Amino acid sequence: MTITTCIFDAYGTLFDVAAAARLAAAEPGNEALADTWPKLAEHWRLKQLQYSWLRAIMGEHTDFWQVTQDGLDWSLEACGLNGDPALRERLLALYWELQAYPEVPKMLADLKAAGMNTAILSNGSPDMLKGAVDSAGIGDVLDDVLSVESVGVFKPARVVYDLVGERFGCAGDEVLFVSSNGWDAGAAAGYGFVTAWVNRGGDPVDRLPGKPHHILSDLTAIPDIARS
Ligand code: LAC
Repeated sequence: MTITTCIFDAYGTLFDVAAAARLAAAEPGNEALADTWPKLAEHWRLKQLQYSWLRAIMGEHTDFWQVTQDGLDWSLEACGLNGDPALRERLLALYWELQAYPEVPKMLADLKAAGMNTAILSNGSPDMLKGAVDSAGIGDVLDDVLSVESVGVFKPARVVYDLVGERFGCAGDEVLFVSSNGWDAGAAAGYGFVTAWVNRGGDPVDRLPGKPHHILSDLTAIPDIARS
């Protein structure tokens, strides 16, 4: 089946989620982050995701911005940095304005030039996704930004992946789904999408039922994969 529709996870896939802690660490007044920012960024991401899965299992949905703040608060405390409200606010502001990875604008423009549908499918709330899309300047090469908020549960619930077919009227095997999260790429493969896992860190493949079809180190090859 020919790929007609390319769908992207947002955080970690199009947008560099470690950038908030990295950039804050380089700012005057945030010297306490100099050595700890990689640990803070890792804790923050892991807790944000754990809270999304736990809330899905518990039936206690709240939006991803709340989960992001909760994950940050746990991580600041774990790193001994919870006594600095200005640092907390700065990290959240930087998260709201995340930049895209360098190859993203051209990659999306190439997909649009090839006649593909392009969209984000993300746990992010609509307003935080708008913040990131606007600051990255990629709104004009995306047909839509789909948020889990329309179904009230986080990925990898199958109802989230249903949003793609509902929006674009395409079959699962017409969709190239791209994520930097191994669990997301695996779940989307199990759902019936063709999937690409962007494995920038060289991590092992997740031991889950679905396995990604393509494993990449960045997004540059996506237009070739979509057209092949
Ligand atoms: C997202 C998270 C999972 O954008 O990265 O949905």
